Amino acid sequence: MKRILTLALAATTLHAMSAKKEQPLYKNPKASVAQRVDDLLARMTLEEKVGQMNQLVGIEHFKENSAAMTAEELATNTASAFYPGVTVQDMEDWTRRGLVSSFLHVLTLEEANHLQRLNMQSRLQIPLLIGIDAIHGNAKCKGNTVYPTNIGLASSFDVDMAYKIARQTAEEMRAMNMHWNFNPNVEVARDGRWGRCGETFGEDPYLVTLMGVATNKGYQRNLDNAQDVLGCVKHFVGGSYAINGTNGAPCDVSERTLREVFFPPFKAAIQQGGDWNVMMSHNELNGIPCHTNSWLMNDVLRKQWGFKGFVVSDWMDIEHCVDQHRTAANNKEAFYQSIMAGMDMHMHGPEWQKAVVELVREGRIPESRIDESVRRILTVKFRMGLFEHPYSDVKTRDRVINDPEHKCTALEASRNSIVLLKNANSLLPLDAQKYKKVLVTGINANDQNIMGDWSEPQPEEQVWTVLRGLRSVSPTTEFCFVDQGWDPRNMSQAQVDAAVQAAKDCDLNIVCCGEYMMRFRWNERTSGEDTDRDNLDLVGLQEQLISRLNETGKPTVVIIISGRPLSVRYAAEHVPAIVNAWEPGQYGGQAIAEILYGKVNPSAKLAMTMPRHAGQISTWYNHKRSAFFHPAVCTDNTPLYPFGHGLSYTTFRYTDLQLSQASIPNDGKTPITARVTIENTGQRDGVEICQLYINDVVASVARPVKELKDFRRVALKAGEKKTIEFTITPDKLAFYDLNMKSVVEPGAFEVLVGGSSRDEDLQKATFNVQ
Ligand code: BGC
Repeated sequence: MKRILTLALAATTLHAMSAKKEQPLYKNPKASVAQRVDDLLARMTLEEKVGQMNQLVGIEHFKENSAAMTAEELATNTASAFYPGVTVQDMEDWTRRGLVSSFLHVLTLEEANHLQRLNMQSRLQIPLLIGIDAIHGNAKCKGNTVYPTNIGLASSFDVDMAYKIARQTAEEMRAMNMHWNFNPNVEVARDGRWGRCGETFGEDPYLVTLMGVATNKGYQRNLDNAQDVLGCVKHFVGGSYAINGTNGAPCDVSERTLREVFFPPFKAAIQQGGDWNVMMSHNELNGIPCHTNSWLMNDVLRKQWGFKGFVVSDWMDIEHCVDQHRTAANNKEAFYQSIMAGMDMHMHGPEWQKAVVELVREGRIPESRIDESVRRILTVKFRMGLFEHPYSDVKTRDRVINDPEHKCTALEASRNSIVLLKNANSLLPLDAQKYKKVLVTGINANDQNIMGDWSEPQPEEQVWTVLRGLRSVSPTTEFCFVDQGWDPRNMSQAQVDAAVQAAKDCDLNIVCCGEYMMRFRWNERTSGEDTDRDNLDLVGLQEQLISRLNETGKPTVVIIISGRPLSVRYAAEHVPAIVNAWEPGQYGGQAIAEILYGKVNPSAKLAMTMPRHAGQISTWYNHKRSAFFHPAVCTDNTPLYPFGHGLSYTTFRYTDLQLSQASIPNDGKTPITARVTIENTGQRDGVEICQLYINDVVASVARPVKELKDFRRVALKAGEKKTIEFTITPDKLAFYDLNMKSVVEPGAFEVLVGGSSRDEDLQKATFNVQ
């Protein structure tokens, strides 16, 4: 018996050894990524290679939408899809044959694992890359942590927080077996009509750059293990500056503005945050669709910036070269143009595979061009450890998602992202003794919409609406809730009247107004992707609700929940207290209540100007001087609230701005130091976001009146004083001259330091570059 066992053991060992011997090099984790890619590529058929450039929507998403969508919706919707004429069996079969590289819109661990299992039946077992828009946490998936959206995060000016949220999001994604996050969106938002402002880091290139780098770094780190996810720097470029403010509309912009305003965050997020993935933008740029734009993909990205990763198309945008831009006669031609311009992966659909294989067989696309793309995609898959870790499991998922530490981060981020815009007569923080009975109303008083765009509904217990937050923070107050429904477009006059009636019996009103962003009501919402507007006023009866409540004479507090800046003129003029909470995530209501009741002292500052009205959209703070040479008549030309504005329950005084030198040589290396003293002159501890701007006084081309070049979050106890030091390096003085060369020109520079971008809030000092 013993002998038989020994023999059997020996045979098993031999078998294992020979199996090991036969194991292809690409499956050996000890081999280098380059060796593994070479080995695998050499084994692949043309079909398998093209399959690596191919992405499909998830099967559950497909099933749901094939049952629900009309042909017209299919042609225009950029968030939902199915493939007419294709069955689930077809998709599963392609997956088993290794003809699919990636899925998107897979929302559960079970589906992700299922697809991966099918895929592992393929000849070469190249793991799937599952992509999702986890823009502010993996919020499309049930039970995952929902942080504030990017515009709120940017308003916290907390770059470390951006990194931390990205890390936690990466952990939650990997626990859900999702590997590729279609974020950071590093577009510089310059038009509030555009529904996607909330997923950007606002209007300032420097702030967007820092936030974008930290976020991309947080997802990827070195992108060399199974804890990291692939980030996606998007959308390249110009979608945030569309001629009419609508998503996907043309962008006509000078190369100077591209290089000075829109490019820097992309360049930095790639070069400093990890250069693995970029998504192109829906729009045409100066007449050429971004998706077939060789200048953008081949020249700028790859040649000028040295980008090594892969480029992905946005949702059916190569196809839009046919039906929208009309720069290609059919999809096959559009695929050809796009690949030759540098595209690597197609989001998404079944037509790609056959057409691209044909294009190669017809000799139009060299196979070597396909190899380049496949190499880039495989490199990412190997680096991320996907070959070794293609699955996750229920235990890991349940341990990681929405874990206590992540929840604390979400709450902390919310607190730091909420901007106190106005606080006349120190109405806030609220005195619970004085205001015993409080009316709470408005479309955003008790709705999951508080989480913002890119979230799906979450379990009730996970979401703190404003009403829930108020009740938990001030348990002795009687909150009288009058429901206005969720839908700003269809508010009921009777409910508005009911709120006004109820106010008579209350001591104070809290009105939660704003936009509606939830994706599951795609056609009904008023802000978010593909939900653009021609004005920035409150929709529906919201302004009536605010004004009538205010006219009751009871003190009124307005809370704005919105991804875009809103021109709340009535409130700004008449209501004593206004809070812009942006889209504050799952703990938004808790954080808002903590701020209203003074448990938290607000510190955030606007990452985007709030204009008085849509006609004032170009009042971004870093405008050119002549923008207001002949200001518009019959109006106040100042913004409603400028970039960088945000109040606290304490006050800060800036004094003693000093520069280390009066003049520096123009040698490209000598920095100058600016020092300023900030004193907390009020009664409460607080955090001040101290901002440093620079103005090039005279230059050979027209320059902005000021540009943010540094900032610091400074915590100060009541009465405390700190001296803050900023180092101004020469790159912060550079711009593109007449010949489009980046230069620092001799002459005077103003350094402006203070608590907002408004001139009145800034200390000034001048130095010279020799
Ligand atoms: C959006 C992208 C997004 C993609 C997948 C597109 O409509 O523009 O930002 O990543 O859909 O959801």
